[in-house]
Amino acid sequence: MSKSHFGLIGLGVMGENLVLNAERNGFSSVVYNRTYSKTEDFLNGRGQGRNIQGAKDLQDFVEKLERPRRILMMVKAGPAVDAVMNEISPFLDEGDLLIDGGNSDYHDTERRVKELESKSFGFIGMGVSGGAKGALEGPSMMPGGTKASYDAIENLVTKMAAQVEDGPCVTYIGPGGSGHLVKTVHNGIEYGIEQILAEAYDLMKRVKGMTGEQMADVFLQWNSTEELSSYLVEITEVCLRTKDPADGGDLVEKIVDQAGQKGTGLWTVVTALQMGASVPTIYAALNGRVMSSMKSQRETAESILKGPAIKDFDLGSSADAMAPLMDATVLSCIASYAQGMELLRISSKDLDYELHMPSIAQIWKGGCIIRARLLKRIQDAYNADPQLENLMIDPWFAEQINKRLPGLAKVVAGAAEAGVPVPCFSSTLDYINSYRTGRLPQNLVQAMRDCFGSHTYQRVDQEGNFHTEWLD
Ligand code: 6PG
Repeated sequence: MSKSHFGLIGLGVMGENLVLNAERNGFSSVVYNRTYSKTEDFLNGRGQGRNIQGAKDLQDFVEKLERPRRILMMVKAGPAVDAVMNEISPFLDEGDLLIDGGNSDYHDTERRVKELESKSFGFIGMGVSGGAKGALEGPSMMPGGTKASYDAIENLVTKMAAQVEDGPCVTYIGPGGSGHLVKTVHNGIEYGIEQILAEAYDLMKRVKGMTGEQMADVFLQWNSTEELSSYLVEITEVCLRTKDPADGGDLVEKIVDQAGQKGTGLWTVVTALQMGASVPTIYAALNGRVMSSMKSQRETAESILKGPAIKDFDLGSSADAMAPLMDATVLSCIASYAQGMELLRISSKDLDYELHMPSIAQIWKGGCIIRARLLKRIQDAYNADPQLENLMIDPWFAEQINKRLPGLAKVVAGAAEAGVPVPCFSSTLDYINSYRTGRLPQNLVQAMRDCFGSHTYQRVDQEGNFHTEWLD
């Protein structure tokens, strides 16, 4: 058999789908999985009749690949990636390239790029988004590493990626761990939007008493608007319409209210804190998951801590697409993107990644979980001003904020009075109100710091650092 163009390690759902995608696009492939029976199952099943061969061990795998070898690892992020790298390295030749397509921590990717490049191998840390379907039909891909390594896989990834009107949803992101950093922040935005849509659902259900079908109709309506048309709104509608085959009731209501997480949302927030970027909407979404996991504590507290009784307030109606609730949802989604992009801008400077913001918006327009029509506006905003400090001051986004802020405030106030938690909506309101306030009360914080710790302060009317003996 002739040598294959492309190798895949790790036949999980994502791995299987990615190799089928590569093969469909003309890249003959060889697959390896730690358990050979899994490889056999795949070759006799979904891989049958395709230009895909299997390998029993890593030496066999490497020998079946043409040089320079292009090998995609789809293994669990963390030590498993290092283990595969160590096991395969003795069989590689100069110029061969390993691609880590998992959700790895970008710090690990930084280290791995250095390690492998020092051995004259290439290493690409590539975020892959789109879930199982995206992997098969065309994901959004975020590869980072040296430009020479990217050039060696460009032909492969541009064919495999989702395609939108202005090109494939993949581009060279930048050096080192930049691809995985961008994927991490993508996931932070994903956490934000998921929580925002859950808050909208909670208000419709608990304040308005709407049924699953009625709520699904609202998401359907929203999905036809420029501001909210997106994959996550689309699947929210589907989730709300899905029935439990056992009794025909809404399946969503049978699901335990505890959201899991695999780490990327947490890393987004940790990175933001370290970089000095403000991401309160994303943090609120992460904390929403943390709170959700404290199920038994919440159940105990429910009978001890008395809040206001749920009471009705104006969330709009189906005739106006739940106008104030839509305002809150749109602005919170805008805030999630704005915070994610801001974090990328700041990290890019700090890490010398030279991220190209319009291209990041472009490759998120298709294939990935946060794909949305809004990304065209984000792309336009960064094309108009590549140095844009925050999306919210771009004219189109500023207009949205000015138009929708009263609606958001109304929803947050109503939810507070009804005792319904809306962490992303309320964080977004504070985020916007803080951002549009030229003088915040941190002058008093500075005074306190100087009072107890002589930390000094600056004055609005004179240059220099000042200290006052406040307590004398
Ligand atoms: C994607 C997703 C995916 C992620 C899941 C689960 O872009 O396809 O981000 O990579 O693994 O969404 O993430 P959590 O378990 O952390 O929610």
